[in-house]
Amino acid sequence: MAIKKIMEQALNNQLNAESESEYLYLSMSAYFESINLKGMAHWMYVQFQEEQTHKMKIFRYINERGGFINFKSLNAPKAQWSGPLNVFEETLVHEMKVTEMINNLVELAMKEKDFATYQFLQWYVNEQVEEEANVVNIVENIKRVQNSSEGLYMLDKELASRVFIDATMTAV
Ligand code: FEO
Repeated sequence: MAIKKIMEQALNNQLNAESESEYLYLSMSAYFESINLKGMAHWMYVQFQEEQTHKMKIFRYINERGGFINFKSLNAPKAQWSGPLNVFEETLVHEMKVTEMINNLVELAMKEKDFATYQFLQWYVNEQVEEEANVVNIVENIKRVQNSSEGLYMLDKELASRVFIDATMTAV
């Protein structure tokens, strides 16, 4: 059964939001490059790559359900922050906003009795739990080392080890 217009539109909005997330994290990566925190720049670059996969999973799903893709204009992302804590705190606020968007989509899928989309969205529900937990952890670590340049150096080194995995291709 082809997807209903209301659900198609809501998923297109989420596709657009994932593009804006991509754009934001790439901008954060560029900011970290500019202040020479290469590990954090790398972490944000991997975050950017993950957001691309979130977008493409929705892209594939809308097509699979016989819907239309409807790209929208993207807002330019912010480009300057006051330091690593500011960046990661804003990342957390951003991800909490995304979680709320996903929850609203789940609510809509339930209301529309679109059980396929409801099922599809469960991957995002779980992903958001992980995303928020990861960022909370980094925020806490930055707070711990904030006044120590050696501590910040070690944390930057740790974040450099993040590996990009396209979890959307292995997920059920
Ligand atoms: Fe696509 Fe960071 O959630």
